Amino acid sequence: MVFLFFMKHQQPIGIFDSGVGGLSVWKEIQKLLPGEDLIYLADSMNCPYGSKSPEEIIALSEKNTRFLLAKGCKLIVVACNTATASAIDYLRVNFPVSFVGMEPAIKPAAMNTSTGKIGVLATKGTFEGRLFKETSKKYTAGINTIIQVGEGLVELVESNQFESEAAFELIKKHIQPMVDAGADQIVLGCTHYPFLLPVIEKIVPPTIQIVDPAPAVALRVKNLLIEERISNDRNQGLWQFYTTGDKATLQILLKRITGNELLVSVIGL
Ligand code: DGL
Repeated sequence: MVFLFFMKHQQPIGIFDSGVGGLSVWKEIQKLLPGEDLIYLADSMNCPYGSKSPEEIIALSEKNTRFLLAKGCKLIVVACNTATASAIDYLRVNFPVSFVGMEPAIKPAAMNTSTGKIGVLATKGTFEGRLFKETSKKYTAGINTIIQVGEGLVELVESNQFESEAAFELIKKHIQPMVDAGADQIVLGCTHYPFLLPVIEKIVPPTIQIVDPAPAVALRVKNLLIEERISNDRNQGLWQFYTTGDKATLQILLKRITGNELLVSVIGL
């Protein structure tokens, strides 16, 4: 028993998303916790999750979790707002590890707005989930929250069209109404969207704050590891990457984030 406890800190952290988007969270985790081994799973074959039913998303999240647990993960980060919205309660009840989820950062946006108007861009599945409704009710009383489903944006990122003309037009269509309405905070409520920042920043004036919850999620992971006494503080952790779909975009993003060509394995789940 003592031996098992001693070993647990050496086990990897599992991170999954419907696709490549969760790399925006992976990036923050590896920066904050360089000693941890990380296993990233992109379920790109089944992406997008946003238009699927909660039952389908639960089944896919369960499959992703089983894969990561079979690899020995000590903690799992659901680096997907949509999967968190539909599946995190189920996962917490049914699996014996801690889960860290994602939800749109409307609390900091509501606290920091001076115009009293915030914009939230997320998937249909995220807006329909209990978490978003509860958090909105709790923190945005008296605040005008402009919500927008980011129709088509996840697909743009998955197909590596981050900075195309089509991306510009679609992002503008989704975001301009928030800008015009006077929002001074725009929450990126999907982990794919930070990869669209170069285009978003062409549309949004610098006076508007773009809110990405990824750094706060990385901090939550760190604190939970400390609480559970399973942190791994050695010098450089090992990273593994898996995808159920095409690996090209994952490799491009990894090169962009780390500067290196990293190995990605294609798997069937
Ligand atoms: N990255 C996922 C999220 O954070 C994308 C959802 C999807 O696949 O539609 O919501």
